[in-house]
Amino acid sequence: MQASTQSKTLLVPALAVCVACSQSAEKPADTQAWSLPRDVHSFAQPEKARVTNISLDLTPDFSTHQLRGTARLAIERGQNPDSIVLDVRDLTIKSIKDAGGNALGYKVGATQKLLGAPLAIALPPQGDTIIIDYETSPGAAAVQWLTPQQTAGGKLPFMFTQGQAILTRTWVPTQDSPGIRQTYDATIHVPTGMVAVMSAEALGTEASKDPQGLSVFRFRMDKRIPPYLLALAVGDIAFRPIGKNTGVYAEPAVVDKAASEFSEVDQMIAAAEKLYGPYRWGRYDILVLPPSFPFGGMENPRLTFATPTILAGDRSLVSLVAHELAHSWSGNLVTNATWDDFWLNEGFTVYLESRIMEELRGKPYADMLRVLGRQDMQVAIDEAGGPQSPDTRLHLDLTGKDPDAAMTDVAYEKGAAFLQTVESVVGRQRVDAFLRDYFDHFAFQPMSADRMVAYMKDKLLSPAEVERINVQAWIYEPGIPSNIPPVLSDALAAVDRQVEAWKSGSAASTLVTDKWTSHEWLHFLRALPDTITASRLTDLDNTFRLSSSGNSEILFAWLEIAIRNRYQPAFAALERFLTSQGRRKFVRPLYAELAKSDWGRDMAMRIYRRTRPTYHSVTSTSVDQILNWPAAQPLPSAR
Ligand code: BES
Ligand code: ZN
Repeated sequence: MQASTQSKTLLVPALAVCVACSQSAEKPADTQAWSLPRDVHSFAQPEKARVTNISLDLTPDFSTHQLRGTARLAIERGQNPDSIVLDVRDLTIKSIKDAGGNALGYKVGATQKLLGAPLAIALPPQGDTIIIDYETSPGAAAVQWLTPQQTAGGKLPFMFTQGQAILTRTWVPTQDSPGIRQTYDATIHVPTGMVAVMSAEALGTEASKDPQGLSVFRFRMDKRIPPYLLALAVGDIAFRPIGKNTGVYAEPAVVDKAASEFSEVDQMIAAAEKLYGPYRWGRYDILVLPPSFPFGGMENPRLTFATPTILAGDRSLVSLVAHELAHSWSGNLVTNATWDDFWLNEGFTVYLESRIMEELRGKPYADMLRVLGRQDMQVAIDEAGGPQSPDTRLHLDLTGKDPDAAMTDVAYEKGAAFLQTVESVVGRQRVDAFLRDYFDHFAFQPMSADRMVAYMKDKLLSPAEVERINVQAWIYEPGIPSNIPPVLSDALAAVDRQVEAWKSGSAASTLVTDKWTSHEWLHFLRALPDTITASRLTDLDNTFRLSSSGNSEILFAWLEIAIRNRYQPAFAALERFLTSQGRRKFVRPLYAELAKSDWGRDMAMRIYRRTRPTYHSVTSTSVDQILNWPAAQPLPSAR
């Protein structure tokens, strides 16, 4: 892990590092006793010296695809520190100075492909500020630069960042570990007519002008956040309020549709607060990005980033907003200390998401989501190689692995199922009281599985209940313990009856589907057999207009079936879907399905050759692996 080129004084043994011990404010009494695990995905040595605040002054250059400017870091010193180690990847460092303008010595260690390099900086004898003058590389993995043609408006370019899991270091030189929380502020200079938004409070409503004539936007995040939640987007961005403290940012052509799709967001916040305590971040807005955004959503604090593929027109896919909002408690308040416990963020969040949706739409609706989630869990276990695979554990050991590649639906759905199991043993009331206290007690702190379990044993579970739940097996062992509570949905059972009718030969037009929501459709499509004749596919398509569905989830499930059965009438829609959005959850499985046959591989390569430059690195890195895309392929210039 340690770079060999580092000077000797900078080396620390790879011992467990107590991240929480070096946190400053708001320490609960028991924090000191806990030594949190070492983060193998960061070079930082926070026990020696840690970053407490980042002050950015950045100018995006849309012609060269670079961010340029300074990061002014506030440092807190541990015992006898002579240096601080940051994480950097693909950054060009121009100078590093103290607050008085004196140059500070620094050294960039050996670079690893995924982790980047340690940047060791000699600390000034006095003062706790270092100022780094730097620029990002055009290929920075966190940043995507879009041409005007890749936006809805077609006139102005667009850029956005995606930090999770370990990509923030490609645009901000800092200690990029989720256990090292930092406040931040930023000044962003953008061309006239463009707007900058960040995961922080916007200071002032009107942009001012700098001496170069650029519009200046200022931001401040005064809560300590993990660095993966730093986020910036710049483009032709408009705003529509929804409630008093909520609203939507999007391109002007999209913003009204988005505001109507997300009109329930205030109800979601009310439901979440009733269950889990106050929303602590001030405003909650949603930014709808251009279609290349690689995720469904990203829980950037105060400003969820979301894909436009959830704008179905009928509010059928807004549980994604409930999910990202829920991260305001699980993930953003109480944060996985390292990526080994990614499930603490996502599993808890899926559980919260379904509880919020249950408040909003009722139990039958939430149960549909839960059943579909269980199906996702099963697929993830199969893909991991079956229930014996160590990749089906909740607590992982990601040493030497890309955290991004290890983030499967096991963390999401087995994680949620663990809390459902706890609920089935101790009852909802006790789980709710526990979670509310947990978010309050550990607010703004990192969390590990061990620490969570200890707190559960202390506050929620008797030794007999710990046994009955089999906490050990759930969290540390592969597979799914047999005490997982079943989830049943009457609505989806009714769909199963239609699937049976169809399987026994009924024509599509005779099926009773008129009251189906997108979840019933999804369940129906997933339940169809692997092999289907062309005439029956044509019957389904002509009756239900599946190839032209405006619901991205339904279209995706249908296209998987179409590829599996080489149903050519859907291929124009397939190509359109693969070239018009870059959400990895949709794009990766479709290429993977294509890659299973010779004809499909040819088609995949033809489409990918043309489309790869339009995808975010998160998506193209995944598809590269599926298609064995030559690693040496130069990065396309027009990203
Ligand atoms: N935090 C995740 C997105 C993420 C995960 C980014 C791993 C980088 C690495 C976000 O909250 C999420 O889970 N998004 C899901 C949607 C959700 C409804 C399951 C997605 O993007 O599909
Ligand atoms: Zn999530």
